[in-house]
Amino acid sequence: MNMNFFVNTKVITGVDCVKNNADKISALGKKCLIVTGASSAKKCGALDDVLFALNSKNVQYEIYDKIQQNPTSDSCFEAGRLACETGADFILGIGGGSPLDASKAIAVVAANPNISEEMLYSMDWGKAPLPVVAVGTTAGTGSEVTGVAVITNSKGFKKSFRNDLSYPVLSLGDPQYTQSLSDSFTRSTAVDALAHCVESFFNRSANDISKVFAVAGVKKLFKVFDKVISDGTQNLTLEDREQLYNASLIGGLAISVTGTAFPHALGYFLTENYGVAHGTACAVFLNKFIEYNSSLKPELTAEFFEETGLDSERFMTVVSAVTPKINVSLTDEDIKNLSPRWQNNAGLKRNWGNVDCAFVNSVLKDLF
Ligand SMILES: [Fe+2]
Repeated sequence: MNMNFFVNTKVITGVDCVKNNADKISALGKKCLIVTGASSAKKCGALDDVLFALNSKNVQYEIYDKIQQNPTSDSCFEAGRLACETGADFILGIGGGSPLDASKAIAVVAANPNISEEMLYSMDWGKAPLPVVAVGTTAGTGSEVTGVAVITNSKGFKKSFRNDLSYPVLSLGDPQYTQSLSDSFTRSTAVDALAHCVESFFNRSANDISKVFAVAGVKKLFKVFDKVISDGTQNLTLEDREQLYNASLIGGLAISVTGTAFPHALGYFLTENYGVAHGTACAVFLNKFIEYNSSLKPELTAEFFEETGLDSERFMTVVSAVTPKINVSLTDEDIKNLSPRWQNNAGLKRNWGNVDCAFVNSVLKDLF
């Protein structure tokens, strides 16, 4: 088993870390494009902190605040061209996975304003992307420490690219920003982080380093999950929120080695077609994923439970209790219509065994 590992990100976390590290941001240039969604960066205080840091170092900025949930390639091209026209030296993304993933694509377009959508995804870029600073405001995505961007293409499908040049150069994570998240958002992002850890552990390309991260992330998450189940997310302390945030970074480090597996591959259609939040859409497949690996890879599964201090029953009970409920039902026709998605699907190939169309159909039939 190899120990291959590469992460090209300076990670700084802790209360007020954005304001306290203005010098590290300003070292990247004199002008930046700030990339956010419509309101969350303002509501949680992150935008104020970023503006304070930029103003304190006389860094000029433009703000692009039109990134939607599940960002589209259209918005990335619009923002990328804006960054190019305004002479941005770097991109500063504030948010959860959507603005952070978008920032990575925007950084590519900013350096290569004439590329096509196809060239963006195939990484036929010409010039290296601009540097990206990631200011995380949710505890789930892990995008702060990966070179992966998931962007919805012009046909409405989530598609990703993964490149060593797309790691944020600087990631600033202040857990205070996650305190304003709603109950369902806190849960769906937390189970996204869990899915990253678990899918990374049972991944064909897992190695000794990625498994250390995967196990550490699961342990941290389950400590807080017990509290979520007994007291609800409204009673989480700043320390609990910090644990969730740190676990999400650890999950990001795990998938930066391995990528995800079938829960993510299957979850995308629930988001695209039924509007299910990303983390929830993936986590609804986690118990099936554990069942699948238990029968296919009993020794690996035993190792997972021994290392995490869990057992199968506890794992499944907690996952079911923490994951927000969804109301989706699929007819045989719906399942048939989804099947082209499972041909040559990279996320399915990363699983042990053979996750084929027949298997996916049986999972969908069972769950929905
Ligand atoms: Fe995810």
